[in-house]
Order: sequence, then C-alpha cells, then structure tokens
Amino acid sequence: MNMRVNIPLELDRLAVANDSIPHPVVGEPAAGAASPHESAVLHVSGEATYTDDIPELRGTVYAALGLSDKPHARITGMDLDAVRQAPGVLAVLTAKDIPGKNDCGPVIEDDPILADGIVQYVGQPMFAVVARSVDQARRAARLGKITYEDLPFLLTPKQAKDAGVGTTDELRLLKGDVQAALDSAPVRLTGTFSCGGQEQFYLEGQIAYAIPREKDGMLVLCSTQHPTEMQHAVSHALNWQRHQVEIECRRLGGGFGGKESQSALFACVASVCAAKLQRPVKLRADRDDDMMITGKRHGFYFEYDVGFDTEGLIQGVRLDMTLHSGFSADLSEAVASRALAHFDNAYYIPAADIHTMCGKVNTQSATAFRGFGAPQGALVTEVLIDRVARQLGKDPLDIRYLNLYGTDTRNTTPYGEVVEGNLLYPIISELEASSDYRARRQAVQAFNASSPVLKKGLALTPVKFGISFNVPAFNQAGALVHIYRDGSVLLNHGGIEMGQGLNTKVAQIVANTLGLDLECVRVTATDTYKVINTSATAASTGSDLNGKAAEDAALTLRTRLADFAARKYGGKADDVTFAWRQVSVNGKTLPFAQLVEEAYWDRVQLWSDGFYKTPDISWDKATSRGNPFYYYAFGAAVSEVVVDTLTGEWKLLRADILHDVGASINPAIDIGQIEGGYIQGMGWLTTEELVWREDGRLTTHAPSTYKIPAISDCPRDFRVRLFKARNHKDSVHHSKAVGEPPLVHGVSVFNAICEALASLGDGHVSPELSAPATPEAILKAAQGLRQRKAVAA
Ligand code: MTE
Ligand code: MOS
Repeated sequence: MNMRVNIPLELDRLAVANDSIPHPVVGEPAAGAASPHESAVLHVSGEATYTDDIPELRGTVYAALGLSDKPHARITGMDLDAVRQAPGVLAVLTAKDIPGKNDCGPVIEDDPILADGIVQYVGQPMFAVVARSVDQARRAARLGKITYEDLPFLLTPKQAKDAGVGTTDELRLLKGDVQAALDSAPVRLTGTFSCGGQEQFYLEGQIAYAIPREKDGMLVLCSTQHPTEMQHAVSHALNWQRHQVEIECRRLGGGFGGKESQSALFACVASVCAAKLQRPVKLRADRDDDMMITGKRHGFYFEYDVGFDTEGLIQGVRLDMTLHSGFSADLSEAVASRALAHFDNAYYIPAADIHTMCGKVNTQSATAFRGFGAPQGALVTEVLIDRVARQLGKDPLDIRYLNLYGTDTRNTTPYGEVVEGNLLYPIISELEASSDYRARRQAVQAFNASSPVLKKGLALTPVKFGISFNVPAFNQAGALVHIYRDGSVLLNHGGIEMGQGLNTKVAQIVANTLGLDLECVRVTATDTYKVINTSATAASTGSDLNGKAAEDAALTLRTRLADFAARKYGGKADDVTFAWRQVSVNGKTLPFAQLVEEAYWDRVQLWSDGFYKTPDISWDKATSRGNPFYYYAFGAAVSEVVVDTLTGEWKLLRADILHDVGASINPAIDIGQIEGGYIQGMGWLTTEELVWREDGRLTTHAPSTYKIPAISDCPRDFRVRLFKARNHKDSVHHSKAVGEPPLVHGVSVFNAICEALASLGDGHVSPELSAPATPEAILKAAQGLRQRKAVAA
C-alpha cells in the first residue's frame, strides 16, 4: 500500500499549525521530513495489530484475577471452592503455585505477584483463575470467599509523612546556606500545596499472552514498555534462566509510563498459568480491574518555605516533598529523584534544601507517568512564582525573567550540572511576542473589570527538562539492520512503539543513512530474542538511544557497501554517495538494490548490529549531585481560560506553545507529541481526579467517574510551533527528545485558572487551590475569595 496517498490531508492540518513543515517526497532524504506515523493508516482504519488482535493458537485459555476488598488485612481464609466449580474453570492458582519468587518489583523485591498472607490495597490480586472463555474466567474470579483480619492503614501522603513510613530511601539535596538565605529574605512564602496523581489511561489495557514452548520455553506477547524487564520478571517467577523466555511486542495502544513496570504482574500471571497448564494463556484486564490493580502517577504533598527579595528574585528554597508511593517501592525512588532534579524548572536557585520521602500508603503502587516526577517538581515552583508576583503586584512573567537561568552566570542547577545550550530566554521572549502576551493580559484585566461572574486568566509557564535516565547504565541501546538482496531493509531495535512515533523516526534515520526513503525500511516487533538487555522505552530517550544505535548499524553497512563499490568501480570509498535510492561511485550511478545484489555475490555481510551509550553523564545518589542529563529540552506555553465563578466550570480558549526539539527528525510527529503532552498535562491538573474512599477503595476506576480531556476540551485556537535550533550536543541528527517535556506546559492552564480566580479579590491574594482544579475545587476557591473580600469590606 502506498501510504503517501494520505499525506496531503495530514499536512493540511499541520500547515495551519506550522507552515514550515517540509513535505516528504519519494526518495527524498528521510530524516527531517514530516512523514506520517508508520502505522497511521493502520491506526485509523483499525487494522493495527495489538496484542489482543494476534490470532490465537488452538487450545488458548483465559485468565482473570481475584482482587482484594481490603486496604490492609491479614488473609485468614481463602475459600476458592466456588471459583473452582464455576462453569468452564480449569485451574485456580494462588501464591503457592508460583514456582519461583513471588515478586515482580522492578527495583526492590516488595511487589508480590499474588498476595501471600497479607493484602496491602483494595484491588490487589490474590488468586488467578483460568477458564475456557474470558467471560467464564471473569465471572469465576468474583466467587472467592475471603476472610480477613483488618490491619491499620494509611491513604494519603500526609498521613504517611506524619507516621514516618516510606517505601524506599529518602533523598536530600543541599546547596548553600538556606537558613541564612531565608532569614534575610524580605519576602517569604511558607505553606503547603498538593497535587493529585493521574491514571495513564492507555486505550489498550494491560495484556499478556503466554505460549509454552518445547524444552521449558515461554513466548510472551505482552503490551509493555520494557520487554527486558518482563523477561526478567517471568524467568524470576518461573525460576528459569532468562534465555528460556522470549517477550515480543509490536506496538502498544499507549503506555505513558503505565506499562514500564506495571505490565510485569500480567506477564507473570499469564506465564505461571501457561507453564502449569501447558497451554497458551491470555490475561487481559478489563478497564475497571486495570484501574483497580495498576499504579498511577504519584500525587505529591509539599511543604515549602521560599524567600524572595522585594523584586521577586528567589533567595532560597526549602522544599519537602512527600510522594504518594502506594504500598510498594516500584519506581518511586527514581520518580523522587527526578522531582528533586526538576523543582528548579527554569530558574536559578542560589540556596536549596530539598527533601523527598516516598510515603507508604495502602493503595495501588504509584509508578511511571509521562514526566516521571518532573512535572510535580516544576508545578510547585511555578505556582509559587505566580503567588509572589501577585503579592508584589507584578506581572508573573517579569518575575520569571528575573529568575531565569543565565547563560554565563547563574547557570548551575542545585545538583551541580551547568545548563548548557540554554534557550529559555529566546524561547520565552519569542513566545511573549508571538502570543501577544502583554496586550492580551491587559485585555483580560479589562474583561474581568467589567465581568462579575465570568473571569478570564492568562498565564505563561516555561519548561526546562533534563534528558537521560538518572541511572547512567540505562542509557544504552542496540539495533539490528538487515539489507535483503532486493535492497529492502529490515530494522529491529530495542525500543517500544507506543504511538509516539519511535519506529517512524528510527526508520527515517536508517533510510537517511542509506540514501533511501521510508518505503524501503520495515520495522519489526521488539523482541528479547533479537536486541537484548534493553532499557525501558521511557524518560523520553527512545529515539535518542535507539536512533543512534540504528544509525550506527546503518553506517557500518554503508561503509561496507562503499568499500565494495570502490573496489569494484574504482575511486575512493569515502567519495561514494547514497541518495535517492541510488549510489554514485567514480562517476557512475546505479540503483541501491543493484549494488546490494552485486555485494551479495562478492560475499559482503549485508546485516549489522549497532550500539550506543550516552556519553558524559553521572549521578551520585548519596549527595544528589552530578551531571545526570546529556542535555536539556526547553519550551514555553501561554494558556488563556475563562472560568464561570458561579459553577466552577471553565474553558480553555487559546493555547500558544513554542517548544524546542532541536533539529526535528519529524516535525509532524513532534507537534503531535507537544499537543498531546500539553493536553495530558492539563487533564492531570484539572479534571482528572483520583478519589479513594475512606475504606481505601478507588472510586474513580472507569471513564464514567474519571474524566480525561476529550477533543472538545482542546482549545479552538491551538498554536504549536517548533523553536528553530539544533541540539548543541551530538544527539541523533541534533534532535531533542520530545515525549515528556511538553506535559509540563499543562501547568500554564492551572496558573491561568488561578489568575482568573484571583481577579475575584483585589488581585494580590491568591486562591486556595491545589491540583487538580476540578470544578468543585474551583468553586470552593472562588467562594473563599468572595468571603474574604466580604469580610475585608
Ligand atoms: N505518546 C503516545 N502517543 N503514547 C504514549 O504512550 N508515552 C510518553 C511519550 N509519548 C506515550 C507518548 C512517555 S511516558 C514517554 S517516556 C515517551 O513517549 C517514550 O517514548 P520516546 O522516548 O520514544 O519519546
Ligand atoms: Mo515515560 S513516564 O518515562 O514511560
């Protein structure tokens, strides 16, 4: 099928947003072109194969999980007779049926696959039932009769902080004499703030399909961001060697961090059941079970003490962050360390004392979610900057300019890394002009002066986001590139395609290196039997790492082909060029495919591996210092909202975003990531609220009660542009990672809502509003400001 037929449509829409996007042409150098996502047509036509769409083998049976009703209790009895006797049931498995270790924790072994003796949250899997149909398994899973002895439990990070119970080590970052800086600061803000967690809400739920193989082998088709981790978890659970377990994944219907570690429980249960029954077993959680079982973004509870001078210049920050870690550690420590390295966001902090604690509470174990702690860290600082601006009667943008990281001085982060290639000022000033920020701010103030109920707000927030895994060893990747005798190319790498366009970008890079176009390159499923010992596709590093590894493999092949061409046709190998599906050598031009065929007959190896590791990065956990990031991505957003202060409802009217992706490998995909990240960030801070009832049950476990943004919540006027600058570091094609940083732009929506509400008072007082700013919370904050004004009058 010729996918290019669909390009004009796609580009029409993008042309509105970004007139600078080049149209891809057959044979044109592939990198830098706005090619559609390699699966775009499959996605929209429903033809894309997700794990549940893969044709099932004869004899496949289905698993379902029996879940705990208690947040913390000793299991005194498990009567599973009714489950066993239910129609179609073939087996019921509990913790004692796990042959290896009953654990699927990614870092610490505190994550039981099936609860053993104790349950630690409502929704924790206690047993698995295997039946002939999905429906039979799910019905039977409800029939367990469990008796419990209740144990005390905690539900909020504040409770965990007060009780002093954490899931993992506390972290501390110290810079300068904070106490002296705070004592001498003429303006102080002290208090507490909090933000909620967020459900990843991938459209494809968690799923694993385990297929037993000869000689104790297992193939697991699994929706996961981390096949290597799944291979480890399954072999650990089965007490097998890792080479017995193959994990394969073609694509995810979204991951957003929720399938980095959380897919392990499903992979393990399906595999343990399959090994026991010696039959293919599929486990796919329905939406409610998925939301009841799996971890979400960490909510945070903050206690802050920040000192400013009378102009609004930050003097020192003391910040205590308690994470809603859930019942186990999972990735909480890494999330905390990213929050620790991002609370500064775009600003120079002369003195800091930052502390994190991962509060152990009896809920799902919080996990990775787009931004991984960075959005939470940046949020609190951005909210405080607006508050101090209001208090001082200044435009918050001026306070931001005053505090921005510099280029020669005031450019070292609290953890010691110098902010190189700083684009904050050029981006913010360009966006200030292009969004008409000052004039619109005046217009908003004029509107508010004459509108008692509807209030508008406008806010600009920047982002500086560090790129690399905080654990240096994770910054490595591999790839395989095969060239068949007809010149067609097959590419395999260690990254996972989850909708973000990774496969398209990596294919573009390979095509570009070999002088081909996207039609010549096919990307295959990620597979632990091909590229091995991979890192999670996470921390936005997917195309940086896998792109470089694939480029390395393609360069090896190009060099081999150039050597062969020079040998055969004369001239120097260095002068051989590859472009437009042609090879030029010593004044002669021939098709790429012809050269490949000739190289085959000369016994040239036509496949290669490639490898990449990010240079120059370090991190010392004990002191929270080092150079954890290879580079930073920058951006800024302006959001304008109108709030109905009698109902708490609001609408996003317009958004302007200017974002730095270096030299874009694919502007169409990058703009999609920026739009999506921003809207997802807005959802986190506004409508998406996780509510745990007093008995520990999550009541928002379906789209009926948990509200993610819909297309109608996107602004009518949505102007996303790419900032033109190549990465000063030697990243792949001098591009920059784009997956997570734009989520932080959602903070501008929260601040715009606060700004609108503040106009209910004298403009100097900030609303008492934590995140998420649901309509109820907005209404309450509005009432608070009105009452305060009435008392003052
Ligand atoms: N975009 C889509 N469409 N679907 C996703 O699941 N995950 C996000 C981001 N963008 C995601 C997405 C997250 S959490 C990360 S870390 C990056 O993509 C991972 O991919 P990358 O490293 O290739 O950017
Ligand atoms: Mo993204 S949270 O790093 O998977």
